[in-house]
Parts: sequence; C-alpha cells; structure tokens
Amino acid sequence: MTVTIVGAQLGDEGKGGIVDLFGEPADVVARYQGGDNAGHTVVHEGVEYKLSLVPSGAVRGKIGVLGNGCVVNPRTLFDELDTLADRDLDPDVRVARRAHVIFPYHRVLDGIEEDVKSETDDEVGTTGRGIGPTYEDKAGRRGLRIGDLTDEDVLRRKLEYVVPQKRALAEDVYGVDVGEKFDIDALFEEYREYGTRLADEDMLVNAGDFLADRLDAGDNIIFEGAQGTLIDIDHGNYPYVTSSNPTAGGAATGTGLGPDVIGGGEIIGIVKAYLSRVGSGPMPTELAGVEGDTPGYEGNAGEREETLATEIREAGGEYGTVTGRPRRVGWLDMPILRHATRASGFSGLAVNHIDTLAGFDELKIGHSYTLDGEEVLTVPATTGEWARCEPNLRTFEGWDDADWEAVAADGYDALPENAQTYLDYISDELDTPIYAVGVGPGREQSVVRERPFE
Ligand code: GDP
Ligand code: IMO
Ligand code: MG
Repeated sequence: MTVTIVGAQLGDEGKGGIVDLFGEPADVVARYQGGDNAGHTVVHEGVEYKLSLVPSGAVRGKIGVLGNGCVVNPRTLFDELDTLADRDLDPDVRVARRAHVIFPYHRVLDGIEEDVKSETDDEVGTTGRGIGPTYEDKAGRRGLRIGDLTDEDVLRRKLEYVVPQKRALAEDVYGVDVGEKFDIDALFEEYREYGTRLADEDMLVNAGDFLADRLDAGDNIIFEGAQGTLIDIDHGNYPYVTSSNPTAGGAATGTGLGPDVIGGGEIIGIVKAYLSRVGSGPMPTELAGVEGDTPGYEGNAGEREETLATEIREAGGEYGTVTGRPRRVGWLDMPILRHATRASGFSGLAVNHIDTLAGFDELKIGHSYTLDGEEVLTVPATTGEWARCEPNLRTFEGWDDADWEAVAADGYDALPENAQTYLDYISDELDTPIYAVGVGPGREQSVVRERPFE
C-alpha cells in the first residue's frame, strides 16, 4: 500500500518527522517533486539529520527514490550521501532517469532574477537553489534529464545548445559577468562524472517501473511531499510559490504511477498547529512580520503581537532549515486548510507543534476571512484578493506545558483538554480524522491514533 505525505500549509509543517513516524512499515520512500530547496529534519536515536534532497526515510534504511518530478542537483545529492556515509549510514538512493538536472547556472539565474525583482520589492524569497530556472527549462524543452548524464554525446550536444543562451541572458540582459558556471567544457567534465557515478553505483531507475515492481512485490511505499499546498505552482499564491506540485496529484505525475494508486492509499495532510512562512507573499493571520520578507512590513505590529511572534518563533525553532532565515509566524488559518484538504483529498491529518503552543493564556485560529465585505471560507484564487483578506479569528483557551513524552505514551485522551478542543475543531471543520499529534520534535513525542499502514 501507499501513504502520501503532503504539506497542508506553506512548507515546514514537520513532514520529515511524520514520514519517520509512520515510516516503520515502509520499504521505500519516494519524493515526487522539488529538489534541494526542501529541508526536512529527522531526529533518530538522538541525532538530528537535516536533509534537503535525500528522502528522509533513507536515514532508517529505507530505499529512497527521487522521482521523475524532482529536480536534482547532483552536487547536493553526493554531498548528502557522503555526509551520511561519514555517520556510518549507507542509504540506498535511486534517481529517476527522467528527473531534471540542476546546473550551477540555474542557481546563478535564480539569484539574478531575485535581485532584479528586489528592486521593486517583488522578490519571491527563493531558497536560491535554482529550482525555478530548472523547471523553466524542463517546461521549455531545453532541460537535461538525469539519464542524459550517462550519454556523453547527448550531454555535450544539449549543453552546447543551452549554455550559450544562459550566458547571453546573464551577460547581455542582466549585465552580470559569469565564469566557470557557464563554461561548457567544465560543466561537461563535472556532470559526465556524476553520470558515471550514478551508473556505477546502480542508482538510476525508471521511477514508475521501479515503484510499480516494488508495489507488485508487496512493498509499502511512502510518497514524501516537499514544500506545501500554498506554495504549489498551481494551487499556491502565485507568484510567491515554488515551481512544482507538492499537492497529492504531483505524487502521480512525479512518480509515474496512476492517480488510482495514490488515491487508493492514504493521503495525509501535515499541519503545523500555527502558521509559519519563509519568503514573501500574503499571510492573513500573520502576527508580526519579518522585515524584508513581509510585504510592507516595517516593524509596525503592536508590541503584543511582536512578543507573541517572537515567543512562538523561539519555542518552535522557526528558522529555515536550508537558509537559516527567521520564519514569519501567524495563527492557524482554516481557509488554507480547507483549500489544502480539497486540493489533495486528505484521508487523515497529522497536527504538529502542540507543545510549541503551550503556555499561552489564549490562542487564536483564523476561522474565515472577510474579503470586500463578504465572509469567505477558503483561499481566493488571486494573490491580490488573498492579500486583502482580513481574518475572522476565533479564540481558544490555552494549555500548559506538560511532560509531553508521557502524554505521547498515554495517547490522545492524555492531551490537555483545551488542546483536544483545539484539535477537534480542526478535525471537524475539515471533516478529516487526526491520525497523529506532534508534541515535540522526536519520534517518541507523537501521539498516534491511527497508523496508516496498519
Ligand atoms: P518539513 O520541511 O515539513 O519536514 O519540516 P522542517 O523539518 O523544515 O521543520 C519542522 C521543524 O519542527 C523541525 O525542526 C522538526 O524537528 C520540528 N518539529 C516537528 N514536529 C514538531 C512538534 O510536534 N513539536 C516541536 N516542538 N517541533 C516539531
Ligand atoms: P520544505 O520541504 C518552506 C519557499 C521559498 C520561497 C518559495 C520559492 O522544507 O517544507 P524556491 O527556492 O522553491 O524557488 O522558493 O518557496 N520554499 C519553502 N518554504 N519550506 C520549504 O520546503 C520550501 N521550499 C521552498 O522560501 O518562498
Ligand atoms: Mg522544511
């Protein structure tokens, strides 16, 4: 059977931890989109692993697959594998021949575009990993696939076609001097080596065939989404999005399995009990902004909101895994979750960070928005409209800090009553059961109600 893990909000909901929690019976963990823009944290035997490309199940000896919907930076891939090897882990990672390759020039172009946009405060706040430019080349039919790295003639021919275009773009359009990152010979030599290593280490697969064979053989597979619904290129707040589909449909196109396979299994929406965001774009329930990331924000929130935002940020460790940037924080936003639940068809939810919210007298949840005088329950389609939404907040009584590991051991009923009220409201509004509740970063700090593989 399959379990698909999808971020229900803006990324960093704690997907890596839930893959780890539910992953025990899984044989394979496959990513279906994104690249090394992701940052998934897994705590295993007291050791924290931060992975940006290798699927998080690889830490526990599962086969990791980077599906055809991913964009793969081979430098990052081998750096991560080498770092894991230094910790005596030898993960079995396979890469789809159809996945696209991130080249150094993609990162340069990502940076240039952000710089230019920042002149008018229009930057997306990307992770700078070259994700957008790589997917652009994929859609533009000039990208290179991982499988191309093993054929010298194809590799050279494609580089000779594309690199001069990129050089001209950087130099002639943007006036930026470029060096080795745009040198065909240097790129050819380096990337041919990656192709050789991928082939020699038997890492190349036709992802759809490989995964279908594993399913036929009775394996359990987790599809590990990166990013989140509101930064999905189709369902997110364009243009403040990533360039792929983190929503559940992406798990079909990004692996080569049918929607019936994805929908026939469980699709779990991962929810952070409040909201956090790295990068720009609207966030109606934001408490207090982060200068540079929050449009129009100049430290102009009230003192109470600033304090609350700081307290939640510190308690939740809300700093970007990839970039170290402080994350913007806000109250839980139900329109986001209704939108996400519909777009991915969640069969269950995992709600993380209940411990982070402990100690506040009261908490708010954005139940709906008011947009131009009307109440709306879900996310409007244009980013301009979303930016005009005012949240209608409901107040919930807070809960005290607790011995969370003991709570996790005792189960849902051991959660503070007010926390249960908060969680039950979420579940009722979304008409979706809660399978797990995160009460700390470790695997033992999770209240499990339902294990999706069982
Ligand atoms: P992902 O990108 O969705 O996998 O999430 P990240 O790993 O980027 O961010 C989630 C962060 O919150 C990590 O540092 C996790 O260890 C941590 N985390 C996840 N669940 C919980 C929880 O229930 N409580 C607390 N305190 N931390 C959590
Ligand atoms: P995980 O998997 C949170 C955001 C960036 C930026 C936008 C586009 O850890 O949840 P990109 O580099 O993808 O072109 O940036 O998307 N972003 C994320 N935010 N979590 C992530 O991944 C993210 N990956 C990208 O901050 O706003
Ligand atoms: Mg993350």
